[in-house]
Amino acid sequence: MNNPVISTERLLLRKMTKEDTGNLMEIFSDPVAMRYYPSIKNESETMEWIEWTKNNYDKYGVGLWIVEDKVTGEFLGQCGIVPQEVDGVMEMEIGYLFVRRVWGKGYASEAVLAWKNYGFEILKFNRMVSLPDVNNVPSTKVAERIGMQAIKTINKWGKEVYVYSVSI
Ligand SMILES: CC(C)(COP(=O)(O)OP(=O)(O)OC[C@H]1O[C@@H](n2cnc3c(N)ncnc32)[C@H](O)[C@@H]1OP(=O)(O)O)[C@@H](O)C(=O)NCCC(=O)NCCS
Repeated sequence: MNNPVISTERLLLRKMTKEDTGNLMEIFSDPVAMRYYPSIKNESETMEWIEWTKNNYDKYGVGLWIVEDKVTGEFLGQCGIVPQEVDGVMEMEIGYLFVRRVWGKGYASEAVLAWKNYGFEILKFNRMVSLPDVNNVPSTKVAERIGMQAIKTINKWGKEVYVYSVSI
């Protein structure tokens, strides 16, 4: 199936396309949303992100998807599964970044929970992780809310991150 979607109570999740550049720029140009990333991204860096994501779809069969309001189609964020190396082992990370104007409504937790279920039930993963910066409290709360547990911290991307994990 080329255009699968995941539907939840309030959200529609779909694959990313190059037409999402403007949507994603709303997150990537916001220094508050990008506080735990190396820098904000300009338009050409955002287009590179989309290419990297499409490459993940082709190479690994997973990647970040776009999250929209199910009723209005409004862009809310991105969430999906990204392969990441943790201590020399390839793990499946659930990643999530949402536009600041929709924080505090539970959308991220709803999308991450949908990916947790999709990962176990459809993709047949035995374990998924999340790797939030140790200071990113809203992100750690999302991981905990969907049933992940912090098992350790590691140095990755030049900083200390938690390894949150959930197994089947
Ligand atoms: C990480 C991030 C997605 C968390 O966003 P968030 O809005 O706190 O998370 P949720 O969408 O799950 O919303 C949860 C909050 O909404 C509240 N809420 C309101 N209505 C809700 C509902 N119907 N269901 C669940 N929670 C609801 C919850 O109580 C919670 O608030 P609290 O944290 O004050 O207790 C957001 O901060 C972000 O995009 N940051 C920038 C990118 C980033 O750092 N990503 C993480 C990389 S690891």
